[in-house]
Amino acid sequence: MTRLRQLLDRICGFSVMVTIAALALAGLVAAALVIGVGLYNVSARKGHFAPVEWALHTTFRNSVKLRASEPAPDALDTPEMIALGAGHYEQACRMCHGRPGATQSATIRAMEPAPPHLQSLAGDWSAGELHWIIHQGAKMTGMPAWPAARKDDVWPVVAFLRAAVQIDGASYDRLTGGEAQGRCSMCHGADGASRNPLVPRLDILSPDYIAASLRAYRGGQRDSGIMAQAASGLSDAEIKRLSTSFDAPPGAMPATATGPSVAVAARGRGSVPSCRACHGPWPAPLNRGFPSLSGQHEPYLRRQLKLWRDGPRGGGELAQLMHIAARDLSDAEIDALAAYYATMPQARLNPNEGSGR
Ligand code: HEC
Ligand code: HEC
Ligand code: HEC
Repeated sequence: MTRLRQLLDRICGFSVMVTIAALALAGLVAAALVIGVGLYNVSARKGHFAPVEWALHTTFRNSVKLRASEPAPDALDTPEMIALGAGHYEQACRMCHGRPGATQSATIRAMEPAPPHLQSLAGDWSAGELHWIIHQGAKMTGMPAWPAARKDDVWPVVAFLRAAVQIDGASYDRLTGGEAQGRCSMCHGADGASRNPLVPRLDILSPDYIAASLRAYRGGQRDSGIMAQAASGLSDAEIKRLSTSFDAPPGAMPATATGPSVAVAARGRGSVPSCRACHGPWPAPLNRGFPSLSGQHEPYLRRQLKLWRDGPRGGGELAQLMHIAARDLSDAEIDALAAYYATMPQARLNPNEGSGR
């Protein structure tokens, strides 16, 4: 009996081996036909087979849901966030996902998969899932990744997609400035004195610093997906011209921080001596390579100080100086310093220095 059992076992073990080998061989032949002979039709004219389509779509959804974990900021759906997100969308996403009140171009609609229209883009994704999709992109679909490592500047775009479900063409034009708007003024204002506190004022900055910043964004040394997109196509000559073109008259904008910030600002005065040598306020001497902070928007300053302290904010050749200066600041000190500089009147460089304003 035992001998018979042994024989049977051997035959069964053998046939399992044969089956596995046969399957592996069939797989290899199929792969050779698909890859080597070109049997699979990659034409975008024909959609995927229904089961392939289902598999890809389900994989995409589950892959996003498994990985999306970034917590949304408290102030997500504010008008400032939505406006900044709309500006970036107009520059970076509209070409594929279209705008309210118009269909996407015929060529874009012929993509496979076709990009969904803006107004169905937010779908039933959560804010964190939208953030993940926009920051990571999706392989082999045409959906690009965010062109910077930093994650926080993706949130305005998330806010805009959520709002876009119910905006019309006219509201979209109001947000992005419509056809007449320039590529920088859409966000920074025509005179450089941005009215959105999340977007820095350029009218208080020296041409040297503006040019160095644009080169750093273009080359990826300064980390911002929004400005990487805005600066990527600029030639050296355009950077030179742009660096002197933002010149709001003095006093065009009052100091931006008011109310409670003024009390917080008083606390900032204590820490300012360590910043003064490089940033003023005026009349302390300012090097034209260093940004003027007086009159800059408070939320922008706060965000930059956290970027300096917590990670590789990057910038021009002198950026390392600032990483050292911000290394040990507490959140409370950052709030106080941002409020302090935002309540100072707009600083101006010594006009005799030529490129100063
Ligand atoms: C070159 C074209 C292209 C550009 C530019 C582009 N996308 Fe996409 N996007 C796609 C395609 C194609 C898909 C569809 C992917 C799929 O169905 O698997 C997609 C999908 C998405 C989705 C997921 C929608 C869903 O439910 O499947 C979101 C959200 C999205 N894009 C947002 C953006 C944002 C925001 C930008 C700008 C920062 C952007 N996209 C830029 C092509 C593009
Ligand atoms: C979609 C909105 C948007 C557009 C369009 C845009 N910017 Fe910006 N810009 C921003 C934001 C947001 C920042 C802050 C980025 C950061 O955190 O580094 C910024 C930062 C800058 C800075 C650095 C300022 C500082 O204080 O360090 C300069 C210089 C600048 N932009 C110039 C330009 C120019 C020139 C153009 C046009 C070619 C332009 N921007 C287009 C939103 C925009
Ligand atoms: C040794 C000189 C130096 C000191 C001291 C210094 N900074 Fe800076 N700071 C710089 C330089 C240089 C940059 C610009 C770097 C770049 O973007 O290339 C900068 C940039 C900044 C920015 C970004 C401004 C913008 O428009 O994006 C902020 C905010 C800032 N500094 C705040 C401070 C504060 C607050 C202190 C004091 C705690 C301080 N800095 C001390 C040199 C200095």
